[in-house]
Amino acid sequence: MIIEVSEKASAGVILVIGATGKVGRQVMDRLMSLGTHPLRALVRSREQAKLPASVDIVEGSLTDQAALAAALVDVDTVLLMWPFLTLDDASAVLDSIEQRARRIVYLSSVGVGSAEELDDPIFAMHAAMERLIARTSLTPTILRSDTIASNTLGWAEQIRATGVVRGPLTAPTAVVDPRDLAAVAATVLTDDAHAGRTYLLTGPRVISRPDQVDAIAAALGRPLRFEEVAVDDARRQLLDDGRPPALVDALLAAAEKRSRSTLLTSTVEDLTGRPASSFEQWATDHAAAFR
Ligand SMILES: NC(=O)c1ccc[n+]([C@@H]2O[C@H](COP(=O)([O-])OP(=O)(O)OC[C@H]3O[C@@H](n4cnc5c(N)ncnc54)[C@H](OP(=O)(O)O)[C@@H]3O)[C@@H](O)[C@H]2O)c1
Repeated sequence: MIIEVSEKASAGVILVIGATGKVGRQVMDRLMSLGTHPLRALVRSREQAKLPASVDIVEGSLTDQAALAAALVDVDTVLLMWPFLTLDDASAVLDSIEQRARRIVYLSSVGVGSAEELDDPIFAMHAAMERLIARTSLTPTILRSDTIASNTLGWAEQIRATGVVRGPLTAPTAVVDPRDLAAVAATVLTDDAHAGRTYLLTGPRVISRPDQVDAIAAALGRPLRFEEVAVDDARRQLLDDGRPPALVDALLAAAEKRSRSTLLTSTVEDLTGRPASSFEQWATDHAAAFR
C-alpha cells in the first residue's frame, strides 16, 4: 500500500473573520475554488452576509466571546482581519483563538516597520497587533499589505454625482488588487509551508490618487478629475460630519504623515505564480461600480 504524505496542512476548518468585506469576499471565493478545507465565517448578520451555503456561518461580533468561541470549534487556522482602530478587545480575541486554533494569518500593513509606524495610528495599530500575536502560542503568517485598490469604491458616489473626487492628497503607494491579496491569503491559509513567515505585498507600481482617478476615468470612458482638499479643511469637514476625532486623525494621517512609497515587492508573483495586477486592470474590471 502506498501512503501519500502531504506537506499541506491537514484539512481542519479555516475560520475567516472579515469574510463579508472587500478583501474577505475575494478570499472566500479563492478558498471555495481551491475546495481543500471546510470554511467558516464569523459574520455580524447572516442575512446580509450572502455567502454560499457551503460556508458554515456563525453569527455575531468579533467582540462577542460566546460567538467567537462557537466560531472556533474545530478550527485549525484563522484569517484575522481587524476592523477596529484600537486594540481594546484584541487580547481577549487572541486568547480565544489561541485556545482553539493552531495557526493565525493576520492582514497587516506595509507601514509596520516603516519610518512612519509610530506617527500613523493605523500603522501603529497593526504593529501593536503583530506584537500581541507574536506573544501567543499561535503560529503566525503576517501579510503586510500596501493600500488596497478597493478603497477607491468609497469615491463611487462622488464620481457618479459630480465626476470630481475631492480629498486630501495622500502620498502615492503601490496599490494592491484585493484579488491578488486574496490569492496570497488563500495560498498561505492552505499550506503550512508559510507558517511563521511575514510577507510584504504591493501592486506592480507606485500610483498617485490623481492617477487612480485617471485610471477610473479611462475605464468609464468619461473625464473625471481629482481635486485636492487641504488637510485642515478635510479635518474640519469630517469633524463637522460627526466623525470621532480618533477616526479623523487615522484617516488624515495618510495625507499628513506618509511619504511617497518606494516599496515594490514580488511577493504576489512569488506566491501565486502570476504578476501583481495593475490598478488600471482593477479599475477596468470594476468600472460598473462607478457608473
Ligand atoms: N484598506 C487598506 O488599504 C488596507 C491596507 C492594509 C491592511 N488593511 C486591513 O485589511 C482589512 C480588510 O479590509 P477591507 O477593505 O476588506 O475592509 P472592509 O471592506 O471594511 O471589511 C471589514 C470586515 O470586517 C467585518 N467587521 C466589522 N466589524 C466587525 C465586528 N465587530 N465583528 C466581526 N466582523 C466585523 C465586516 O463585516 P460586516 O459585514 O459585518 O460589516 C467586514 O467583513 C482592514 O480591516 C485592514 O485592517 C487594509
